[in-house]
Amino acid sequence: MKIIVTGGAGFIGSAVVRRLVNDGHQVLNLDNLTYAGNLKSVAEVTGMSNYRYARADICSGRAVSHAINEFQPDAIMHLAAESHVDRSIQGPLVFVQTNVVGTAVLLEAAYEYWVELSDEQKRNFRFIHVSTDEVFGDLGTDGGQFTEDSPYRPSSPYAASKAASDHFARAWNRTFGLPVINTNCSNNIGPFQYPEKLVPSAIRTALAGDAIQIFGDGTNIRDWLYVDDHVSGLVLTLEKGQPGQSYNFGGVSECSNSDLVDLLCSHLDALRPRTDGKSYREQVKFIDDRLGHDLRYSIDSSRARKELGWSPIDTLATSVEKTLSWYLENPEWLEFSDSYGSRVGMPY
Ligand code: NAD
Ligand code: DAU
Repeated sequence: MKIIVTGGAGFIGSAVVRRLVNDGHQVLNLDNLTYAGNLKSVAEVTGMSNYRYARADICSGRAVSHAINEFQPDAIMHLAAESHVDRSIQGPLVFVQTNVVGTAVLLEAAYEYWVELSDEQKRNFRFIHVSTDEVFGDLGTDGGQFTEDSPYRPSSPYAASKAASDHFARAWNRTFGLPVINTNCSNNIGPFQYPEKLVPSAIRTALAGDAIQIFGDGTNIRDWLYVDDHVSGLVLTLEKGQPGQSYNFGGVSECSNSDLVDLLCSHLDALRPRTDGKSYREQVKFIDDRLGHDLRYSIDSSRARKELGWSPIDTLATSVEKTLSWYLENPEWLEFSDSYGSRVGMPY
């Protein structure tokens, strides 16, 4: 297939690009390289004849239409976004611009292209809108999971912007017939993640001898999924998903932030012991909570398991091991952060 991937220089987008190119698809990576984009994440496939890159902003209708008309894709997998919750608290409007306006611009350009295709091409075309479980808000600690029918209750400006883009994606399907599929996934863990997110940030601060900062009391729970398992879900969505439908992906790996940091510390103690013989746990520091911090996420992926035949391969334990080993072998990826040492996401 000929597939445009937006955000293909980011954490998950680059994993999608690497997988699709290695599977033999023709891929155009469309990314404007914000602070979070890095083409080194696709070095493995750069130079392969079935891979191309175009620097383009999804908010520019002209740039996006040009790329689509020139490449003539069979599918668009849309991952470009502002993705960090704390940054959305500090500066929400770029989230509205990229995630809401950018997605609408892309949907419109895709529609203008799609409407001119033959009937068969129209039927086979897919627009996969990659979204998050954060659109559903949060859950209490007394059980329950998000299903595709859970009400939308976004808490942060990031989550609200993704909720809005989910709705626009659905509207382009229902109103205009564009074959759009939404996916909503839980927290991804894996290589090539920008070191502002909890996992790479904790590894970085631990190794630097700085405070490993946990927001609030550390009891907030996330449902972790290895990034390649998310990618396999997205590929199955492309192959078998029903237009107009949405699919949840999660790892059945609920873990509190304290327990996750504890796990990281015990692996680090074994793999890269501190010179003073003490545990990295000594560096943990509980700091002021994130504003509007969601308490717990948990995803019910039964629809994806039943209808797409998806199931994750990695557990939380193997995901943590693989991710940590990768960062220890690729320490330069811990150095890219533009905000190291400063707290992002505090009140104005
Ligand atoms: P990321 O921040 O690592 O990467 C985002 C990419 O989008 C970067 O390469 C950036 O340069 C690009 N980008 C940003 N604005 C752009 C614009 N205007 N035009 C073109 N490119 C632009 O994000 P990620 O963690 O890889 O997330 C990818 C997608 O998956 C997002 O839509 C996010 O909401 C969703 N998601 C992420 C997670 C997670 O745990 N990281 C979980 C579920 C869903
Ligand atoms: O659930 C899916 C979402 O997961 C994605 O949609 C987002 O794009 C992605 O960034 C991620 O959002 P989170 O806010 O859950 O990820 P983050 O790594 O920022 O935080 C994970 C948890 O750890 C969260 O409860 C906040 C907490 N945290 C985070 C940081 C950066 C800390 O305690 N300390 C930290 O330094």
